[in-house]
Amino acid sequence: MQAMRQTHKVLVTGGAGFLGSHLCDRLLERGEDVLCVDNFFTGSKRNIEHLLGNSRFELMRHDVTFPLYVEVERIFNLACPASPVHYQFDPVQTTKTSVHGAINVLGLAKRVRARVLQASTSEVYGDPEIHPQPESYWGRVNPIGVRSCYDEGKRCAETLFFDYHRQHALEIKVMRIFNTYGPRMHPQDGRVVSNFIVQALRGEDITIYGDGQQTRSFCYVDDLIDGMLRFMDSPADFTGPVNIGNPSEFTMLELAEKVLRLVGGASKLVYLPLPSDDPKQRQPEIALAKSQLGWQPKVCLHDGLKETISYFRKLLSE
Ligand SMILES: NC(=O)c1ccc[n+]([C@@H]2O[C@H](COP(=O)([O-])OP(=O)(O)OC[C@H]3O[C@@H](n4cnc5c(N)ncnc54)[C@H](O)[C@@H]3O)[C@@H](O)[C@H]2O)c1
Repeated sequence: MQAMRQTHKVLVTGGAGFLGSHLCDRLLERGEDVLCVDNFFTGSKRNIEHLLGNSRFELMRHDVTFPLYVEVERIFNLACPASPVHYQFDPVQTTKTSVHGAINVLGLAKRVRARVLQASTSEVYGDPEIHPQPESYWGRVNPIGVRSCYDEGKRCAETLFFDYHRQHALEIKVMRIFNTYGPRMHPQDGRVVSNFIVQALRGEDITIYGDGQQTRSFCYVDDLIDGMLRFMDSPADFTGPVNIGNPSEFTMLELAEKVLRLVGGASKLVYLPLPSDDPKQRQPEIALAKSQLGWQPKVCLHDGLKETISYFRKLLSE
């Protein structure tokens, strides 16, 4: 007989965003009570409108740079714009969201003794000298560049999480998320997967930055959320940081060709200069997630792209 899982009151900051809304879906499916907090900077009501009638779901408009007083047992801290176009729009606010947001969320966790998970990022590795990146790698980050508000904000948030853990015995989970894609990505967020798909669906040219030989690994959202839930449920002494991502690597050129094949149409590839501080290569080392969480990605790029394309096809036809 399977043991009954204990249910919790769960706070998801950034719950109306791409990852947050999928997380809310999965938490509700598991029978948890979910409080979704968001200031709708990049998130949208559309992502969670199907949940509004659910009696175990509550939505609160709130900016995490201000303190929050609620009673919860678990916190997933996802609030932060994630794509360069959005986080560079107001870089000071981006750092505030990461740093003040972490302080507020950690203060709340300390008051109510909640377990708290931080959505950190592979960007803490910067432009890495080693490949793939294990969690023990300290990174190579430019502290004064246009991406620094995000990278350094997230690094400082990690520091705060570990200091609250050491100083106040808080139960923390620090998850380093690598490029993730799937339905509910923002169509104008400038991230490569959504860019290519939207351009192909509109029959526009597909823009490749640099020579297209830089590689990325892409994790499908369902796999990512599965890893996040396993991590939150893992023993208290496993704090991470842990990488969650898909190690299968593709060049931008390969990705563009795959998208074109799946969408069809007559788009051409055009080449533009590389943006500043764009890392050439990024790939997760996931041995720790495999051994500690029994997690590894299951969805291949082909299947994930098909789901994502059908989401954008419907969105663009409305
Ligand atoms: N998607 C990825 O590939 C990826 C990779 C690495 C890390 N992450 C991290 O995962 C988290 C979620 O990313 P996402 O892709 O869903 O991005 P997203 O932009 O879709 O979601 C972020 C959400 O946070 C909200 N938000 C932003 N600032 C806020 C504030 N001050 N107060 C309250 N809410 C605020 C936004 O409105 C949005 O709903 C982020 O912390 C991001 O840094 C994502």
